[in-house]
Order: sequence, then structure tokens, then C-alpha cells
Amino acid sequence: VSLKPYNTFGIAVSARRFTTLSDLDDLPALLDCAPYREGPVLFLGGGSNLLFTRDYPGLVVKLELSGVRVLAEDETGVLVEAAAGEAWHPFVRSTLAEGWSGLENLSLIPGTVGAAPIQNIGAYGAEVKDTIEAVVCADLDNGGAEVVLSNADCRFAYRDSVFKREAAGRLLVTAVRFRLSKTPQVKTGYGDIAGELARMGIAEPTPLDVSEAVIRIRQAKLPDPAVLGNAGSFFKNPIVDAGHAERLIARFPAMPHYPAGEGRVKLAAGWLIDAAGLKGYRDGDAAVHDRQALVLVNHGGASGSQIRALAQKVQDTVFERYGVRIEPEPIVL
Ligand code: EPU
Repeated sequence: VSLKPYNTFGIAVSARRFTTLSDLDDLPALLDCAPYREGPVLFLGGGSNLLFTRDYPGLVVKLELSGVRVLAEDETGVLVEAAAGEAWHPFVRSTLAEGWSGLENLSLIPGTVGAAPIQNIGAYGAEVKDTIEAVVCADLDNGGAEVVLSNADCRFAYRDSVFKREAAGRLLVTAVRFRLSKTPQVKTGYGDIAGELARMGIAEPTPLDVSEAVIRIRQAKLPDPAVLGNAGSFFKNPIVDAGHAERLIARFPAMPHYPAGEGRVKLAAGWLIDAAGLKGYRDGDAAVHDRQALVLVNHGGASGSQIRALAQKVQDTVFERYGVRIEPEPIVL
């Protein structure tokens, strides 16, 4: 089965076996079937955070669990549960349409609800961990039994969680519970949200207005995967020690930097790549996006290995110039 429609990079690889999972009741049988037991197995959400560099030698399971329901509600807010296969952005918009706030800054992020906690998606001053009450999982080592992790159990950090570490390959995210508010407190302090709202002529923004502003900013900078293959930011923003950051700031006064805890400073990988002259750099169909250097794109025919080679060149260039190692954000398979 070709995986090209199932990865937003648009890489033309295939899977030895492919199936979908749309009903949790079918999970025990899936865990028991020969292709599953033979392995390897890859559970796939929206395919927006991975790079295939070769054909997948085992079973790919596309998660299509769907459904959204309110678990609890009072005057101040709601606890809403969404199944892992729900598309992220339509889910965000539906919560805003209900008058619930909390997810507006995370508008227009590709992918599914189930993928959101795994890398703790974040944008424009918000991270999904700020709204997550609990994550419902199936324990793959125990017949798919339900396990509910509290927010603390998930050990969320910048683009990181227990699902990328100890629980990887064992806990499958099947649903996410969000605590959303009916008394909105919009976050407009990050990046150009305030400027975009001003251009929209809005002085007292609602959560829906913030969502609209974020959509406009993202559309102006980030390539639409339906048009130009990509997996969003290809690199995480690096966190370095304060001394290193100070030496860099002395050399590059314009370099963006943000406090990241005691003695630590977060740098903008996009800026480092851009200032190293690689924005828009292209090798065949693999390229550094010309409007946001943190994003690698596939102009059509690039293979996963070509994208990976480009990523390596970017990493090496950044290391030579700044002594900073930047790490890929998507899963490279
Ligand atoms: N910058 C440049 N040139 C570039 C790109 C960025 O100079 O080509 C500078 C910007 O001017 C700004 C700084 O770098 O001063 C940071 O840029 P930006 O605000 O665009 O955000 P980012 O750090 O590049 C992160 C997330 C994005 C998220 C944005 C907005 C990561 C790895 N990426 O990018 O997330 O949308 O912030 O909050 O943390 C994603 O993960 O796929 C993603 C798109």
C-alpha cells in the first residue's frame, strides 16, 4: 500500500501491510493478528510529524477513532473528550464555535487530536498541555486495556512527553480530555498576534478573533501541506546554556533568545538557519522553505533520504557557525 496519501511530506514509500482502526472494540483482535505479532507496527495519525526514508517493513495502522463528547460542564467551563482520530483544527474550531476557549492559539496545526499530546504541540504562546486534563490510552502490552494518564503523568515538556519516552510503543493514545473555559482570557502577547489583530481592526479580541489572527499568520508563513509537502517545523528550537547564549548574542546582537529556566536559554532555530543563509536553499526537490527556515519542504519528487540529507546539511551548517546542535522534531523512519 502506498503511504504517499498518509504523510504530509508526500514521500512515496509503501507499507508491507496496512489497516485502519475505527473502533476500539476491534483493538484486541488487531493485537492478536499475525502481522501485528510479527511486527514492526506503526500507528499513524495524520502523518504530519514524520519523515519516511524507506518502505515500511511491517504493519501500518491508521487511527480513525472518532467522536467528541462533553464529560462535565458548569458555568465556568467544560471537560470535553475527543477521540484520537479527530482532525485537530476542525476540533479546535468546533470548541470555539461552542464558546469554549483554550485552544485558539493552536489553530491550524495539522494532524490529529491523538498526536497532540505526544509532542505537546505548541504555537503562539500556548502549549496543548495547558488545557489537557487527562489522556486516555490503550496498553498494547496488556491486550489494549484502558489506562488514563493525568496531566502530571504525561510529563509534558517543550515538544516532549512520556509518550515519546517511557511509554513509546506501549501506550497508544485513544482519546484526549481537555479542560476548556467559558470565561475566556485570550493570549495575544506572543509574536505578531497583537499586530495582526490591529490590522484586522479588532481592539477587544474574542477567542475566535485570536484563532482568526493565528490562522492568518500561519498561512502567511507556513506552507499548506496539501500544496507543498512538509511536516511543520523540522527542527526543535535548541536550548543552550546561558554562557553560550551570551557569547552568541555578543556576536549576533539581532539573534532572538528566550529564557528557558535557570541558566538556560532557548534560541530560534529558524533564525539560526536563516542567518546562516540557508532560507530558500534547494537541492533538487528538497528545500528549506523560503518564508520560514525552520520548515523543510518537498517540491514534489524528493525522497525521504534527500530530505534527510538536506536536514543533515542544515544541522552541520548551524553547528559550524554557532556551535549549536539542532535536533529534528518529526520522527524519522
Ligand atoms: N525567524 C527568522 N527566520 C526564519 C524563521 C524565524 O529570523 O526563517 C525568527 C523570527 O523572526 C522570530 C524567531 O525566529 O524572531 C522565532 O520564529 P517564529 O515565531 O516564527 O517561531 P519558531 O520558533 O520558528 C515555533 C514553533 C512553531 C510555531 C511557532 C509560532 C517550534 C519547533 N516551532 O517556531 O511550530 O508555529 O513557534 O509559535 O517550536 C511546528 O512545530 O511544526 C510549528 C510550526
